[in-house]
Amino acid sequence: MDVPRDLPSPEADAAVAPVINHALKRQVLVCTAKSCAANGSEAVLDAFKARLIEENLLFYKGNRQGEIQCSHCGSVGFCAIGPAVLVYPDGIWYAHVTPEDVPEIIECHLKGGVPVARLVRKHLG
Ligand code: FES
Repeated sequence: MDVPRDLPSPEADAAVAPVINHALKRQVLVCTAKSCAANGSEAVLDAFKARLIEENLLFYKGNRQGEIQCSHCGSVGFCAIGPAVLVYPDGIWYAHVTPEDVPEIIECHLKGGVPVARLVRKHLG
């Protein structure tokens, strides 16, 4: 496949976006839009970040070796069953997640590779 000449090289991209070369394995998205926020999704997001930092797994400015990126996202349509939590590249969408569920999701899914079946409502792919 020919690469158009006006696109930067992978090396040039990595120079300005070094995340390209980091060892990220998963991304956790927590919906913090109106309905999920009303059901406590900010606390869920905080619980994920705190626990992932404790486990040295969170990718952030203080730990570029972390394997998991975690951030908020907008509504994904789980408004009536939120807080919604999405895990990629697995394509797992959780519903009704509480801060108390976070350690189990981290242990079983993010570390063990096995989604928490009782919270899964959608599996892409
Ligand atoms: S507000 Fe979270 S899925 Fe809609």
